[in-house]
Amino acid sequence: MQQQIAPTDGGHLSGQFRNTAHAISESRPYFDAPQMVDLMAVHGQSTTGRTIAWGNGPPESRPQVIDFVRCSYLGLDNHPVIVAGAIDAIEAHRSLHCSCARTRLNFDLLGELEQILSEIFCARVLVFSSGMLANLGAMPILASGQLTGGRKPVVVFDQFAHISLACHKPVVADETRVETIVHNDIDALECLCRENPVVVYVCDGVYSMGGYSPIKELRQLQERYGLFLYIDDAHGISIFGRQGEGFARSQFPEALGDRTIIAASLAKGFGASGGVLMLGVADHEVLFRRYSLPYTFSVAPNLAAVGAALGSCKIHRSAELGQRQRRLAQSIHLFDHRIATAEQGNSVPIRTITIGSEANAIAIAKALLDRGFYTLVTFFPTLGQERAGIRVCVTAEHEVRDIERLCDVILQKIAEITGKPYPLR
Ligand SMILES: Cc1ncc(COP(=O)(O)O)c(C=O)c1O
Repeated sequence: MQQQIAPTDGGHLSGQFRNTAHAISESRPYFDAPQMVDLMAVHGQSTTGRTIAWGNGPPESRPQVIDFVRCSYLGLDNHPVIVAGAIDAIEAHRSLHCSCARTRLNFDLLGELEQILSEIFCARVLVFSSGMLANLGAMPILASGQLTGGRKPVVVFDQFAHISLACHKPVVADETRVETIVHNDIDALECLCRENPVVVYVCDGVYSMGGYSPIKELRQLQERYGLFLYIDDAHGISIFGRQGEGFARSQFPEALGDRTIIAASLAKGFGASGGVLMLGVADHEVLFRRYSLPYTFSVAPNLAAVGAALGSCKIHRSAELGQRQRRLAQSIHLFDHRIATAEQGNSVPIRTITIGSEANAIAIAKALLDRGFYTLVTFFPTLGQERAGIRVCVTAEHEVRDIERLCDVILQKIAEITGKPYPLR
């Protein structure tokens, strides 16, 4: 049902940073169509590897679907060590959750986890119950100027910065100036650095629709102008670095310093649940532990998440991590060998096959599901209108034959549904 949203405050419509009503009304048909053919809001049970028992009911009686949607790039999410870690933590405390602000009381296992992650990521690590909440905690503090010597920065967002960052623009704008620049536009960022004494740049390390930030160039701007970097590497951790320190962290020196914060999710490559902030200096740590919003109320990560993350740390410190990283690289290579995308050749496991028409993209995703492959059909507002696509996350756990067959079926269905061979022009 289409809702017309009328202004209720005497005609004032701001929308400088957000236009939720517009996004909802424009995207409604794109959500309705895949939902009607069971591509969205579906249920299933994870079994082994990347297989999902599709739907509800006894798992043995359900169709098995190979999933290319979940972001567990190393296939750690159903690793026995991680599952056992979650159970052990709950049993140790006879409790799931510490229902208390973290400024007051913390369960000891959470402290242990932060200590181990600090060693792995070579930073002062704070753990949150999700990556989204880590960002929510950070943005107001960043805007306040407390991280930049008491001077309020101009906060510059990459236009494709993840929505869990971009949604805070109005909050940041309440404190200081906000700018948005074209994706990875280093020249525009340098201009802003030249014109303003204090600049913060907010971006993703690895972008969830594919691609990544030019960390080397960003570090050059940091050295030249003192640029403060806030990099959300939700999709980059675990899959890069000797101990899985990630795409962004592995490109910084051992000491992170006072002008860089790296955020990440523990719910993707890391295979557990939660989010982290990697900080470089003690002053920042004190600020966050006192003033970041998720330190209040009962928002601490629960013990299942903490225990799972402790299990994942064991894997991150073993030879198995490197083996899984290498298997992931092989999976990506295999996919690239069959299907060319804009991301072809990079070592990030996210590939988007551009289709264009939303209706065609949905029809292709449905045809893939009918053949036993669940992929992510993406469209407005994640992508621009008429720029819909199929996102595929390859992982270290996919079988060679599954990736090969997926690619064959993608090419076949694109030709059948659009009447043209891939790549579509
Ligand atoms: C770049 C980025 N940041 C943050 C998040 C949120 O992380 P979490 O799922 O742990 O809340 C995501 C999730 O997709 C993401 O892609």
